[in-house]
Amino acid sequence: MSRREIDVEQLTRSVVLPVADDQERRAEVSLRPTTLNDFVGQRELVRHLEIVLGSAKARHQTADHLLFAGPPGLGKTSLASIVAGEMGAGLRITSGPVLSRPGDLAALLTDLQDGDVLFVDEIHRLSRAVEEVLYPAMEDRRLDVMIGRGPSARAIRLDLPNFTLVGATTRTGLVAAPLRDRFGFVGQLDLYDVEELTVIVTRSAGLLDVTLAGIAAKVIAGRSRGTPRIANRLLRRVRDFAAVAGHRTVDESVAVEALALFGVDEYGLDKIDRRILTLLCQQFASQPVGLTTLAHACGEETSTIEDAYEPYLLREGLLIRTPRGRVATERAYQHLGITPRGGGLL
Ligand SMILES: Nc1ncnc2c1ncn2[C@@H]1O[C@H](COP(=O)(O)OP(=O)(O)OP(=O)(O)O)[C@@H](O)[C@H]1O
Ligand SMILES: [Mg+2]
Repeated sequence: MSRREIDVEQLTRSVVLPVADDQERRAEVSLRPTTLNDFVGQRELVRHLEIVLGSAKARHQTADHLLFAGPPGLGKTSLASIVAGEMGAGLRITSGPVLSRPGDLAALLTDLQDGDVLFVDEIHRLSRAVEEVLYPAMEDRRLDVMIGRGPSARAIRLDLPNFTLVGATTRTGLVAAPLRDRFGFVGQLDLYDVEELTVIVTRSAGLLDVTLAGIAAKVIAGRSRGTPRIANRLLRRVRDFAAVAGHRTVDESVAVEALALFGVDEYGLDKIDRRILTLLCQQFASQPVGLTTLAHACGEETSTIEDAYEPYLLREGLLIRTPRGRVATERAYQHLGITPRGGGLL
């Protein structure tokens, strides 16, 4: 096969987006860490979790309810299944948007086995009515159900088995305060550093049977925007490239060539990032630009720019937000090799 046979347009779509589609989530399952030992990074969070789980096990009780918060692709779902594994418990998985009616949650809760972990992804998207059912369930393992309608309606109370609720959210600020208060432990996940991502890439390469040499793992890690999901995705794309180009081993130059082919530069920026920065540097010539204008000019949704692209550009000091809009920094001009017009750069 020649290199041209790789459908670059298809593969470069969203190569650095932190969110995953269903197909990618299926591909991720084999790379998921299954024990706390396998879980790289987030040292403080892992230490606290070891204590919480260890003490519950010593008391032969279920662990406190746990909430994991952090940007997409940092390991919240992985942690939920690790918790179930470490506790030797069953895992039931659902999500905020799926539980649209209180009855949906009641059915799930009454079906739990003693000790189960119930994982509710996107827990900030639960409706108020469903949350009301969750509160007594979390606090007293109690479910109040209304039977019948009108004047003959009556409430009956059901006792629920012991269970641990594990919630995940991309932002703790989005979780209603009464719900947040009912978790015994809230763990915040942060972006990973290059060393940690290098360990993750090396481990995943072993699982995918990819031979990495020299600093190839570090090159991939350095372009992964602090996100294990992106690191694993880039590794898979590099593997595809190496297979098609006939390289048995992926060394630094193969990794660099592959990532360049997929439009990822040495900062981990892709074509949309560069488009955002180029627009700010050239078309808008250092003028602050509003989010809507910027999104329109890039042909992207405002939420995609704000949630997927901007956080990394902000963290890398390539863009700043001012009260009047977004502005590219001097670092962005340097990175793009553009000479700024006029002075007063940030
Ligand atoms: N600490 C880690 N160590 C090793 N691999 C990790 C780690 N965190 C995440 N991963 C890898 O990244 C992938 C994505 O992680 P996961 O699905 O747990 O993220 P998430 O926070 O639940 O994302 P989302 O918010 O999109 O649901 C996993 O399949 C796993 O392979
Ligand atoms: Mg998840």
